[in-house]
Amino acid sequence: MGTPVDPVPQVIRQALADAADAPGYPLTAGAPALRDAITGWVSRECGAGPDGFGVLPTIGSKELVAWLPTLLGVGPGDVVVVPSIAYPTYEDGARLAGATTVRADSLTAVGPTSRVRLVWVNSPGNPTGRVLPAAHLRKVVDWARERGAVVASDECYLPLGWDAEPVSVLSPEVCGGSYDSVLAVHSLSKRSNLAGYRAGFVAGDPALVAELLKIRKHAGMIVPAPVQAAMVAALRDERHADEQRERYGARRETLRAAFMDAGFTVEHSEAGLYLWLTRGEDCWATVDWLARRGILVAAGVFYGPGGRQYVRAALTESDERIAAVAARLA
Ligand SMILES: Cc1ncc(COP(=O)(O)O)c(C=O)c1O
Repeated sequence: MGTPVDPVPQVIRQALADAADAPGYPLTAGAPALRDAITGWVSRECGAGPDGFGVLPTIGSKELVAWLPTLLGVGPGDVVVVPSIAYPTYEDGARLAGATTVRADSLTAVGPTSRVRLVWVNSPGNPTGRVLPAAHLRKVVDWARERGAVVASDECYLPLGWDAEPVSVLSPEVCGGSYDSVLAVHSLSKRSNLAGYRAGFVAGDPALVAELLKIRKHAGMIVPAPVQAAMVAALRDERHADEQRERYGARRETLRAAFMDAGFTVEHSEAGLYLWLTRGEDCWATVDWLARRGILVAAGVFYGPGGRQYVRAALTESDERIAAVAARLA
């Protein structure tokens, strides 16, 4: 279903334990070592320049996704654009802020409204595994800047490209070297098996990040000090991330072949942690067919009406369980 199952890498556990004596309040902005580690990672992995962007740790990325519209002052009468088939928290966040959600993959569908304050993009996407090309992202950024809207790019699956190379909104190809009006949202939950630690961060427009910091300080949205130390260790170590990526890559090959042999069509799924599958029937019929074989998947309709004939299978199971799925499908 999507929760990581592999062990937390030892180097991260050790950093958490070493930072256990933490009687004082942690910095909402992140300790200097964490700010350095996030900045370095964003420069390397997102292709951003060495500096010029703001960074801020978050308590996992879900809380930021859910509260970003509110933190940006988006409210009733404003519009938040989300992908047509999307992680549900984008819409939940708009609802918490009292704003209106519009589902659209192409901004021509949104029309010439000035009410749009925030546009979410998610590449690689959950649940579809779709990767948006740099040119597409660039158009979204240009469109938003012309209208004074913010682009929030949820990039939590960025390190997991399989058949396509995902691009960050912070790369010069997309943002043109200016971080104005763009925010990249990242998470260590999947890259480093840290879903249980709640470790994420946001990077981008320094003025927006400063505004988020100001509010989050007063709202108590502070990453605990031992988790901050664990994040430093995680961000400085690519080895465990490469190993985890290999594990997911192997599971993906097994599952993909097994579902295709069983007559499923795999759509998109070129990156990320999911296979987006269809048998050309209502998703609940597929969920039922798989459940009778002891295989649990998410119904596509959870992610929007466009997912009605799809199910989402996650790569987050042990090798033994993945092999069992393949055997049952065969
Ligand atoms: C697209 C997307 N964004 C954000 C999250 C939240 O992740 P976390 O809060 O663990 O960082 C998830 C989790 O599955 C996700 O799929």
